[in-house]
Amino acid sequence: MAKDPVRVLVTGAAGQIGYALVPMIARGAMLGPDQPVILHMLDIEPAAEALKGVKMELIDAAFPLLRDVVATTDAVEACKGVNIAVMVGGFPRKEGMERKDVMSKNVSIYKAQASALEKHAAPDCKVLVVANPANTNALIFKEFAPSIPEKNITCLTRLDHNRALGQISEKLNVHVSEVKNVIIWGNHSSTQYPDVNHATVKATNGGEKPVRELVANDNWLNTEFITTVQQRGAAIIKARKLSSALSAASAACDHIRDWVLGTPKGTWVSMGVYSDGSYGIQPGLIYSFPVTCEKGQWSIVQGLKIDEFSRAKMDATAKELVEEKSLAYSCLN
Ligand SMILES: NC(=O)c1ccc[n+]([C@@H]2O[C@H](COP(=O)([O-])OP(=O)(O)OC[C@H]3O[C@@H](n4cnc5c(N)ncnc54)[C@H](O)[C@@H]3O)[C@@H](O)[C@H]2O)c1
Repeated sequence: MAKDPVRVLVTGAAGQIGYALVPMIARGAMLGPDQPVILHMLDIEPAAEALKGVKMELIDAAFPLLRDVVATTDAVEACKGVNIAVMVGGFPRKEGMERKDVMSKNVSIYKAQASALEKHAAPDCKVLVVANPANTNALIFKEFAPSIPEKNITCLTRLDHNRALGQISEKLNVHVSEVKNVIIWGNHSSTQYPDVNHATVKATNGGEKPVRELVANDNWLNTEFITTVQQRGAAIIKARKLSSALSAASAACDHIRDWVLGTPKGTWVSMGVYSDGSYGIQPGLIYSFPVTCEKGQWSIVQGLKIDEFSRAKMDATAKELVEEKSLAYSCLN
């Protein structure tokens, strides 16, 4: 019997990531090849015509899984009954703008959208915030949607996670699917800490070998590897004159897919989630941790050994999040 369709909201759907993301969702890359979907696309008035065009293209692509498309500039209409919300829309930092000005714009967007979703989405709605500053937008979202369980509000650091897998795969000349269990700790910003201390590569005998042992170059792993992952977004802007879009869209699909359908046994992924104090991270921050997912629930991987080098980097990115949080709160007043 055919499954009931799942309603997926994409905000900022007329933008670059939205344009790459909606066809992926309609093809089953997010929820699986047998899951029909209804796409809800929200954007703002100046992008209304472009949004109409995206809807026309979705119709023209004749996707078998796509049951309907709602394209609107009305947040209430967009949020009605949605089961999954991918929040891509936001206010970008423009030249000459202060950090506080950008924060203030996004705080008011996330405050309003949190209230709309809380009132109109399906009760079990899962939320993924992509728009930057992603962790702090998710935190504001959580504050203003108190009836949505904090376990249902996450932010995207899977792109950074996938970038780390990609760098190790290139270095060792192995396929990316053979590398697993890297970790992105902290903020989706240049203070994030990409950690390979627990990462492994599939060995030819079926076992696993530690990445550190195979790379055999601690200096590279502790310096260039980290900065390459941290600054990959800037490198893409330099090359493309536009920020990463297809890889961000693909990572958003990976994030939701693993959250809903589960992570493979023995594998974890990175997600920005509500800190419960694990690994000494201040409770209440939205911080990227290693997580496993089962039956639609994520749990933070516990008991990993943290060395001094990692500790310092994990604390530095937490400190930045505490500062962002207080900046965001100052914008509320
Ligand atoms: N977390 C990550 O890994 C990651 C990666 C890449 C980009 N990003 C962020 O994702 C966001 C989107 O990137 P993009 O390249 O698609 O940007 P974009 O400018 O191409 O698109 C953004 C869209 O959001 C819309 N928008 C603005 N305010 C809105 C609102 N209040 N409600 C609904 N829509 C609104 C805009 O009209 C636009 O269509 C940016 O904040 C970017 O920094 C995050």
